[in-house]
Amino acid sequence: MSLIAAQKRVLSGMRPTGRLHLGHYHGVLKNWVTLQHEYDCMFFVADWHALTTHYEEPEVIQDNVWQMVIDWLASGVNPGSASLFIQSRVPEHAELHLLLSMITPLGWVERVPSYKDMVSKQHNERDLATYGFLGYPVLQSADILIYRAGNVPVGADQVPHVEMTREIARRFNHIYGREPGFAEMAEEAIKKLGRKNAKIYRELRRDYTEQGNQEALETAMALVADQQNIPLGDRDRLFGYLEGGGKVILPEPQALLTDASVMPGIDGQKMSKSYGNTISLREDPDSVDKKIRTMTTDPARVRRTDPGDPEKCPVFDLHKIYSDDERRQWVKDGCTSAGIGCIDCKKPLIEAVLEEQQPMRERARQYEENPDLVKSIVSEGCEKARTIAKSTLEEVRAAMGLDYR
Ligand code: TRP
Ligand code: SF4
Repeated sequence: MSLIAAQKRVLSGMRPTGRLHLGHYHGVLKNWVTLQHEYDCMFFVADWHALTTHYEEPEVIQDNVWQMVIDWLASGVNPGSASLFIQSRVPEHAELHLLLSMITPLGWVERVPSYKDMVSKQHNERDLATYGFLGYPVLQSADILIYRAGNVPVGADQVPHVEMTREIARRFNHIYGREPGFAEMAEEAIKKLGRKNAKIYRELRRDYTEQGNQEALETAMALVADQQNIPLGDRDRLFGYLEGGGKVILPEPQALLTDASVMPGIDGQKMSKSYGNTISLREDPDSVDKKIRTMTTDPARVRRTDPGDPEKCPVFDLHKIYSDDERRQWVKDGCTSAGIGCIDCKKPLIEAVLEEQQPMRERARQYEENPDLVKSIVSEGCEKARTIAKSTLEEVRAAMGLDYR
């Protein structure tokens, strides 16, 4: 563990390339809603990331930006607790992306698993052998580092990107965090903590540097993170001094892995826009009913009198998400003995999905009727994001020697 535990900010983004569906809700949004109560959360529309793949279809992005924000709000993301913003409205991301690109070894970006995969994919109708797409993970690193986010909730596919963010941050701090007279400046910074906290800091630092006490390090990190009244540069020195190195200008984030349970689509494959098997978050109730009623079941269960095997049935995967133990047992018994039909089995699921979506439809309505409300929520989020982004960039520019003006 390094700086991370001390960093209370959560940041995550989503590409606006389609309407959100139940897979997004259970895989990502439910988690965002929980996190917003515990952390300072920033969630953003990654429209530039969408452009790296959809540069020939900008209308797709345009259509989905606001709808996606409405889907977030419908899911219970609360603009009072979390800041919602759009990447391209915080142009500082682009400047940091450029600056980080200077120190990012080509081998790192070429090695990212998703990159090789996507560029070489035969069935991919898009030409992804572009400069922009190669830089995808560097842009993502800029997104994260510009807010000095400690936690980045993502799915497993994004973990290599967060890992690369950590490497870039480490490299940046290594190259630019070495100021002349660092130790003296850190000692001066300690005095600014006040007598009591300075004493605690010194004791904790000693416990860590002399005895390797991890807990002491974490406590000290938290102590520094809590200091609101000392200059940012000093905070970075105090973090860096704990671990012995130089100033930590860009703290390393950590991935918060979201639940891996897979939402089955109505054809039994993973629910995904590209398979056309989704149930969208604000899907019309009749359509939800129809889609689940006609959903793929255990192929061996042809007739009502044939017993089935829930473990071979995607409908049962839905029960794993929506039903309690008792109802799952009812499905197992009824299915394997042909005691229930597939329609019986699906009925409680239809009800559960509709019940889950009811409050979403209600929350969404006010935003659908009043798009200006959505825009003002996003404007406010963009402003807050820009303030933070600007202050990080100032430090980055100074560290890189770009503050001659
Ligand atoms: N690459 C992410 C995805 O496809 C989206 C994203 C862009 C992101 N920037 C980010 C996620 C920063 C977390 C943090 O899902
Ligand atoms: Fe699937 Fe349920 Fe039909 Fe069994 S009864 S095959 S679990 S839908």
